[in-house]
Amino acid sequence: MKIGTPLSESAIRVMLLGSGELGKEVIIALQRYGVEVIAVDRYENAPGHQVAHHAFTIDMTNGVELRALVEELRPHLIVPEIEAIDTDMLAEIEADGLAQIIPTARATQLTMNREGIRRLAAEELEIPTSRYAFAESRNELQMAIDGGVGYPCIVKPVMSSSGKGQSTVNGPEDVTAAWDYALSGGRVAKTRVIVEEMIQFDYEITQLTVRALNAQGKVQTYFCDPIGHRQLNGDYVESWQPQAMSEKALARSRQIAKVVTDNLCRVDANSPDNNTTSTHSMALNGRGLFGVELFIKGDQVWFSEVSPRPHDTGMVTMVTQAQNEFELHARAILGLPVDIRLREPGASAVIYGGHEQTGIAFDGVDEALRVHQTELRLFGKPEAFERRRMGVALAYGGDGITNSANDALQRAKQAAALVKPTPHT
Ligand SMILES: Nc1ncnc2c1ncn2[C@@H]1O[C@H](COP(=O)(O)OP(=O)(O)OP(=O)(O)O)[C@@H](O)[C@H]1O
Ligand SMILES: [Mg+2]
Repeated sequence: MKIGTPLSESAIRVMLLGSGELGKEVIIALQRYGVEVIAVDRYENAPGHQVAHHAFTIDMTNGVELRALVEELRPHLIVPEIEAIDTDMLAEIEADGLAQIIPTARATQLTMNREGIRRLAAEELEIPTSRYAFAESRNELQMAIDGGVGYPCIVKPVMSSSGKGQSTVNGPEDVTAAWDYALSGGRVAKTRVIVEEMIQFDYEITQLTVRALNAQGKVQTYFCDPIGHRQLNGDYVESWQPQAMSEKALARSRQIAKVVTDNLCRVDANSPDNNTTSTHSMALNGRGLFGVELFIKGDQVWFSEVSPRPHDTGMVTMVTQAQNEFELHARAILGLPVDIRLREPGASAVIYGGHEQTGIAFDGVDEALRVHQTELRLFGKPEAFERRRMGVALAYGGDGITNSANDALQRAKQAAALVKPTPHT
């Protein structure tokens, strides 16, 4: 593996599509290896724009604009950081050999829409998931619930993320409100929703899964320690690593993660599945890190969804792992070896904007950092919203008496609460 000099003929150029807080960390990790990075986002001065060699603002759902930029800059690798991208254009770019899509164009196509990944997991791969159905009107939604999904259930636009447009339906009286809310939260005008049976899990995890080259030059799958997290209104508020699990649940989780990520990286991507079973059709390419979201009850495991890229709950790895999820992603996509070792337990707690304003300030950073064994990341987003994620507090190591991931969680929450977003007047 050879890496050139950035801003020269020999440079390895990587284009990030989406340059939020997760992209920013991937960019920093790439920069450390002397990779030339092009950060793209839909708004100016996005977090990743601020640390990349080049910054562009385009509408990534517009395939024409996207292709024009790729043709102009000729990146070797394209690394999608968000779902709202014209993924059919990514497939064209891949098919035309213009650039390599991370992990594969197929993975980005299947995961940008909840329907693609859910049908693949449940119907093709026969992995346990919640009961589910799709609907395009309030009446269809009611019929889907009556037809088997039942109450309580969760309604989500098929094209949305971070809990947008997502709500819980406890009985018939909630259906209209859930439909209307989904209409407001979808990414596209035409609304299609998935309605899912509510799984009464004990806890939920993100199984970070890395496909990287081993010493033999073959793609190997590596599993990080499980990350537990707590979600509020479909958005993550706290995460910790490791999450304690039964041996059976952990083995089952990893088996599911392997089957799903293998499939997303299949080579015969766009050709229909003939009668080739398992290993024959599996690619030895498709490198990168994935966040596989799973619900656990006892030894039982349900697949929920997967990000073919670093996961927000995985920010905790910035203080827990020898190589955090961003560095693992950077190494994997460059064809470098990875080490998924956990160094020590830790936790993360999100810091929200609390205001609707541009250019806010953060008070109390010093107090927060006085909390024993903590770190902060302030993302530098130009505009704050009440519930926009503006930063994260990280804590590591325990006090040696209590469960240390839990001990770290208390400190992460304490540090996050000490950071006070303040309108700049
Ligand atoms: N079928 C379900 N049963 C129980 N809880 C669920 C179910 N679906 C979603 N949830 C809860 O809502 C959270 C968010 O759901 P999901 O991951 O599908 O949404 P999202 O918008 O993609 O969120 P993100 O982008 O933050 O991952 C889950 O992590 C879980 O806590
Ligand atoms: Mg999710």
